[in-house]
Order: sequence, then structure tokens, then C-alpha cells
Amino acid sequence: MDVDIGNALASVASPGISRGALERLDERVGQAHERIETGRANHEHGYAALNLPERTDPGEIRRAVDPVGDAEALITVGIGGSALGAATIVDALEGDTEMVFLDNVDPEWVTSRLESLPLAETAINVVSKSGTTAETLANFLVVREAFEDAGVDWTERTIVTTGEAGPLSDLAERHNLPKLRVPDGVPGRFSALSPVGMVAAAIAGHDLEALLEGARAESESLSGSLFECPAYAYGATAYALDGRGAGINAMIPYAESLETYAEWFAQLWAESLGKDDLGQTPVRALGVTDQHSQLQLYRAGPRDKLVTFVAPRERADREIPATEVEELAYLGDSTLGELLEAEFEATEASLAAAGRPNVRIELETVDEYELGGLLYGMEASCVLAGELYSVNAFNQPAVEWAKKATRGLLGGGEFAEADAVAEKTTLR
Ligand code: PA5
Repeated sequence: MDVDIGNALASVASPGISRGALERLDERVGQAHERIETGRANHEHGYAALNLPERTDPGEIRRAVDPVGDAEALITVGIGGSALGAATIVDALEGDTEMVFLDNVDPEWVTSRLESLPLAETAINVVSKSGTTAETLANFLVVREAFEDAGVDWTERTIVTTGEAGPLSDLAERHNLPKLRVPDGVPGRFSALSPVGMVAAAIAGHDLEALLEGARAESESLSGSLFECPAYAYGATAYALDGRGAGINAMIPYAESLETYAEWFAQLWAESLGKDDLGQTPVRALGVTDQHSQLQLYRAGPRDKLVTFVAPRERADREIPATEVEELAYLGDSTLGELLEAEFEATEASLAAAGRPNVRIELETVDEYELGGLLYGMEASCVLAGELYSVNAFNQPAVEWAKKATRGLLGGGEFAEADAVAEKTTLR
């Protein structure tokens, strides 16, 4: 991926960062890089995720999915880091398999999704690192029952990806289900390039080697200076702008296929950096659609935002047909791709002209290789930002708090967190 931070400089934008301040920050980037490299070398928790391009075995994933390789549809049951990486990959790439992600437990929605599928031709991909997440386990039990009710043997059609031990691992062993491991030291939201994110991609027939190759190439660009490393340039710029008042980071892909990527990024940024009263709030938007809704705020609202664009340089295009109306003749001389590109350039320029900081991330195109690089690059950006904020980017105590409270409320154990829910103050 290429990163252009020109429109985040103080000479263009407010808040912005001056060249001198970036140079001073670069000393801290160098120190952070050393810390990251030590963590990677020792396979420390979290840092180990940046070793996935070398560690993940595509052959193992393909062997596990082989029995269901001809499935017409795949239900992935997982939530958060156990769903969004896989969803990002399969939504970005063209595939023949119908993909359904059951993360929410909204009963009407779950029922309608299940009723829409040919269960006899559908495979199940259950993903939970802990093996205890209530939403995932509950949805899996519901899915399993739906298969039984339809007379389909779910044990023949299910793949499990989980940690070394836990209830989901036990369940997989009891039913002799193919089981893949969430690699040690890899937090959920950093696991897209492991079986967690790649089982669905394998069933869809995507090139797993190319995904990892793109990530590997990005990993080779990590260096001790933000001026030489696109991923660190992004992480350092976002961090610096947050410190100067841009507490909101609006991620805007200019490609429909990358809409889910913005969702993945939002989780990565929020759950990793939202600690100790620090962190930048990610917002998801989509170009060009949200030019007609949110752009007004980004250009003329409070000066508290960084806008991050992600766009491919190349994409399949389509001519706009000529029209008999003279006023619209200019459209007939263009393609939809040219229109989209013009909208992107116009939006970027309109923000710069209003002194609003923005960063452009470019991919050659949206394919496995570029996507692997993007996912890896943004993970590395986030790890770097975590170092600069001095927060632990790899835990999620607030998320765990709510998980325990939920289990406690449903009688799944004694958790003090559940008592706090009962003590809620109400004023109606
Ligand atoms: O990034 C994270 O750690 C979380 O979003 C988890 O992925 C999410 O809570 C699901 O957890 P699990 O994989 O244990 O079911």
C-alpha cells in the first residue's frame, strides 16, 4: 500500500502536523519499531500477529476445508475479530460461494438468514478464539439445530477454528470435527491472516498464498523511520493528529468492495487503542455514497477529524451511455470509473481547501495480494500507534467486562460485572 500524508501537514491543514514535529516524532517511531521487532522475535502476545505471513500454512487451511470445498454457501459463526477479517476478505474479492456471517444474535435476522439458505449445500465455519463467546456459541447451537431439523448432518459440514482448549474445542473433539488453531499470541482483531480470516477465503476459492505474499511484502517495508515505512507513516500521523485535536478518524474507502474493510478497521482502531482515556474514534463511511451525507460535516463541522481515504488505482470499468440531453453529454464521454475517480479527487481537494486533514492510502487494485498488504499494513500502523500512545493494543478489558456481565446475567457463572448491571441507575 502507498500512503500519502501531504494533506495532513500543518501547512495544509488544521489540525495538522509540521514537518519538524514529524521529524521529532520519528525518533519515537524508531524506538517503537525496535520494541515491535523485539516482540516479534520473541513471539510475544500481540506482536506475534505481525509474524502471521510466515506462520500461516495455506495448505493446512485448504486440507481442513476440502470436505466442504463444493459448498454453495458458507455460514461463518463468529463475532468481532473472529468474523470481520474473514468478512473483509470475502466481501472484497469476487467469489462463487454465498457468504453469510452470523455475528449478531438478533433472532429475527438469524432466522431469516437461515431460512434463505440451501442447508444441504451449506457449510458451517465456527470461529471463537476463547471458545466461550455467548453470541457465537448460541448461534452455533441454533445453526446446528436448523441443520438437524432439515435432516442435514452438520457434523459432515462444520469446520471449527478455536484456541487450544475451551468449550468449542471440546465440542469439536466430541463430534470429530476438523479443527484449526487460532495461533498463540494473536489477538482476535489481528487474526485476519490466520485460519480465523482465511477459512472462508479458502472455501470461496481465493488465492491464500497471494494474500500472505502481499502481507509479507508489507512486513518487509517495516523500518525505523516513518519516512520510509507507509504503515508507520499512517500510524504516526493518525496519532499525532489525534494529539492535536483530530479525535475522530473517518475511514472512507472509494470502492464498494472495501466497505467491510472500513468495519474491520473500525474494530482494529477502537478496540486496540481505546484505553486509559486515550484513542481515536473510528467512523465508517463509503465513497461516493457518503459524499451526499457526511461530507458536509467533514468539511465544515468541528475541526476534530482526520479523514482517511482508501482507493485502488485500477478497477474494472463501465462506460456511461450517451444521452440525447445536451446538458448530460459530458457523462456520455466518461466511464463510471472516471466519475468515481473525479468524485474522489474532488472530495479530497475540497477537504484540503478547507484545511481539513486527510490521508490517502492507495492500492494497485483490489486483489488478494493488495488486500493482504492493506490488512497487514493497517495492523502494523495500529501496533505502532499503540506504542506511541503507550497503551496495550492487544487486550480488550472493556469488551471482556461486557462478555462476563452477559454470561452472569444468563446464569453462566458468578461474575461481579453482572451485579453492576443490576445496580444501573434509571431516570425516566
Ligand atoms: O479482537 C478481539 O479480541 C475481540 O473482538 C474478539 O475477537 C471477539 O470478542 C470474539 O472473541 P472470541 O474469538 O473469543 O469468540
